[in-house]
Amino acid sequence: MSLYVLAGFISIIIFWFGLRSRKGKGIKHIRGPPSQSFLFGHEAALIRQEEAGSLEYQWMKEYGTTWRTRGVFGTDVLMTADPKAIQHVFHKSGYNYTKKTSQNFVGWLMAGPGIATVLGGDHHRHRKIMHPAFSAPQLRSFLPLFQRISGKLSEKWKSELVATGELDLMMNKWLSRATLDVIGEAAFDHDYNALDDGGRSKLSKGYENIFKDVEFQPSNAVILFRASWDYIPIPVLKLFRYLPGKPFTRLRNLNNLFRQYGKQILREQGPAVDAERKLDGKDVMTLLIKANASADANTRLDDEELIAEMFTLTLAGHETTSTTLSFVLYELARHPAYQARMREEIRAARARVIARGGGEFTTEDLDVLTLCVNAIKETLRLHPIAIGIPRVAVKDDVIPLSRPVVSTTGETVSEIPVKAGQVFYASFSAYQRLPEVWGEDADEWNPDRFLRIETAKQPTSVGVFANLLTFSAGIRACIGWRFSFIEMQAFLGELVETFQFHLPTEKVEIQCAPAGIGMVPIVRGKPELGSAVPLRISLVQ
Ligand code: HEM
Ligand SMILES: *[C@@H]1O[C@H](CO)[C@@H](O)[C@H](O)[C@H]1NC(C)=O
Ligand SMILES: *[C@@H]1O[C@H](CO)[C@@H](O)[C@H](O)[C@H]1NC(C)=O
Repeated sequence: MSLYVLAGFISIIIFWFGLRSRKGKGIKHIRGPPSQSFLFGHEAALIRQEEAGSLEYQWMKEYGTTWRTRGVFGTDVLMTADPKAIQHVFHKSGYNYTKKTSQNFVGWLMAGPGIATVLGGDHHRHRKIMHPAFSAPQLRSFLPLFQRISGKLSEKWKSELVATGELDLMMNKWLSRATLDVIGEAAFDHDYNALDDGGRSKLSKGYENIFKDVEFQPSNAVILFRASWDYIPIPVLKLFRYLPGKPFTRLRNLNNLFRQYGKQILREQGPAVDAERKLDGKDVMTLLIKANASADANTRLDDEELIAEMFTLTLAGHETTSTTLSFVLYELARHPAYQARMREEIRAARARVIARGGGEFTTEDLDVLTLCVNAIKETLRLHPIAIGIPRVAVKDDVIPLSRPVVSTTGETVSEIPVKAGQVFYASFSAYQRLPEVWGEDADEWNPDRFLRIETAKQPTSVGVFANLLTFSAGIRACIGWRFSFIEMQAFLGELVETFQFHLPTEKVEIQCAPAGIGMVPIVRGKPELGSAVPLRISLVQ
């Protein structure tokens, strides 16, 4: 630990003058909560809040939809839930607002130079290479896979229910294994075998709790050390992968473990692609291997990027979806009347399928399950797993606001000039609770709001769909959002038709604990359980 303290203080001394020279410029006229600590600003309070996002909601009530907080080392952070400001930074500015190194580099240490961590032109190249794998028709072709894996999960639960009638289970752990199998097959034609081995595989174990282990409740020393990364040149930062200490060894071990899997998958799949069997394929594996072989630098991925890409997709593509699905089922358990309506809707659709001769639901069948679609949207709105994302201005700019705020001197501010280096933080969770956008009951889980709100007609549109920011927005928005959405539709169709979901026998409270830019569900008072959404299920009568 002393290493962190030392490194933290060295970086303070080195960059003290740099920071001082920035004083007097910037966003001092924007109101915000007073800072208790020069060194930590609000950073420690934010990362240690009970419920992820609750401080932001409180500040938003007090200061309006845009406010100023303090980061580590006395820096100013422009925090906002304002849709126009977020639209400007995420949708309209291209790479002129970049990822914040101290946030991004944890991902780099974990996955390497994959699509989620590379910047600027490199990112453009990765995105172009991956794009064909995420087109709507390509993704619809995965529906049978989603149905096969959700069916497999369903069979496992059914066989346990025969004996007991009811079953208490850790919903997120089951779903995480199922979604790991899904991404393995969908992206790499590879069976991670996570559902069958009951979570005993090295990979399921390696991923388990990774976000909590690495980002949850960091010590003061780690907070300072991490913040200092924003001032350290990237080549030096890359050496940090050799650092001792818990989060770093945890990241490194997972990275090493995945490399073994990645190499094995490449050995399995490489010959198939080389044999031109899939030369026209738009699946991820074919695209990646072709990119690796490309002679054109604009469409090429080197060996390190190739493995990083595979790791990134595996990581970004499973726990995100399983956590969101766990929250849908948790909310359905809390809202049995809605759950019953949803089941009726699914049964009616099933009757239509049987009438036309049977088979599985098609994407068209799933898309008209309005109550199911709305339950997914509402859960994405109220329980965004990334509660907000920081960006850093690359150049001087002016950020427009849709909702003016009152400055420290009482003036009305409807645009905010910022200097290069200004940290901007979009609070997705606060935006998604704005009463003006979502209604007076914005703090409640009520999917029927989507029957009355037409998101397409809302004045400022953001994000990738339904005016939600849960998948982020703009050129770095989640590439897998549609994949995830269809996967969730397929799983809910299967699971809600077959099972009833109840709150667990033992009364527990779910806490949405902050972890980095994200949120991890844990049982209140029992963080040692790791990420946890316990529920009880029974067979539908
Ligand atoms: C409910 C499920 C999901 C949620 C809420 C979600 C959310 C997000 C968010 C917030 C980002 C932006 C991160 C940042 O800028 O730091 C992101 C990026 C990304 N997501 Fe997802 N995601 C989900 C599912 C998936 C799936 C299923 C895949 C892959 C099949 C995927 C692949 C990616 C990739 C590759 C990126 C990086 C994009 C880039 O930087 O260009 N995600 N996701
Ligand atoms: C980014 O900034 C440059 C330089 O000021 C400008 O020319 C360019 O149009 C900006 N890009 C976007 C997408 O706004
Ligand atoms: C990727 O390209 C490099 C350099 O051409 C080559 O050595 C390597 O074997 C390729 N990797 C795969 C998995 O095909």
